[in-house]
Amino acid sequence: MEVIETIAAFRQVRAQYGQLGFVPTMGYLHEGHLSLARLARDTCGSVAASIFVNPTQFGPTEDFARYPRSFERDLDLLRQEKVDLVFAPAVSEIYPEGFYTFVDVEHVTDTLEGAVRPGHFRGVATVVCKLFNIVQPTHAYFGQKDAQQTVVIRQMVRDLALPVEVVIVPTVREADGLAMSSRNAYLAPEERQAATVLYRALTTAQQAYQAGERNGAALRSVMQQVLAAEPLAHTEYVSVAHPTTLRALDEVGETGALLSMAVRIGATRLIDNVILP
Ligand code: PAJ
Repeated sequence: MEVIETIAAFRQVRAQYGQLGFVPTMGYLHEGHLSLARLARDTCGSVAASIFVNPTQFGPTEDFARYPRSFERDLDLLRQEKVDLVFAPAVSEIYPEGFYTFVDVEHVTDTLEGAVRPGHFRGVATVVCKLFNIVQPTHAYFGQKDAQQTVVIRQMVRDLALPVEVVIVPTVREADGLAMSSRNAYLAPEERQAATVLYRALTTAQQAYQAGERNGAALRSVMQQVLAAEPLAHTEYVSVAHPTTLRALDEVGETGALLSMAVRIGATRLIDNVILP
């Protein structure tokens, strides 16, 4: 496995590979990230991953400075998954003095995470676009865990005709249902227990849907009620939305729905989602 820090060096090495799967990450890797790497390896033959905590996707009051980092451990895990190339640039390599170009995906960024984290998806789209230009993958792997991110990336790839196939991978969960996330490391034991409420709320709404409930407001209310029963949980939003436009749904129809939520447990902000049916 080669660890590469500069764009110039990556370009040189890239020329030796044909089909290449790409897994962009911010490090502090867990089974969720590794499932993307595994699928990339199985389908592409060769795999590149990036480890880059991207400052432009964090708001001024967010956790960029204290985002958890474990570089050497991450490299060990990627080595075990037989990843070929790791791109791990410094911030100044991606955003040198005089960096003035950003990718703004409109419309699908107005709601959900985009509504409460202004500028977040501008940072995500910009860095992913730049990483695509550096890594030049044939396939790129993203987790369903970050549902709106997958919609934004797909939109950008379509709108800008980027020559890459985007693959979405199911959310990997802990045994009790909590979606794996680097930010779970922030949770104190009592909070970790409380954090199971997100998936419980989602599965309760899923059951209501299976029992015939199609009304958006009713499904939102089911999720809100489950969340309200957990004293440590503070709900930021719950949503029943169209899976590709992300517009709120009055009724769940043929196209199904994305059930999603953002919940603060203590100081930690967690998101989760499931897709209906
Ligand atoms: P990060 O949060 O490190 O996640 C990297 C990739 O792993 C994303 O595609 C994310 O959806 C996926 N992932 C995280 N938890 C997962 C889980 N439990 N199951 C399945 N996949 C999971 O997302 C980012 O980094 C950044 O925004 C990035 C795309 C790298 C741009 O900076």
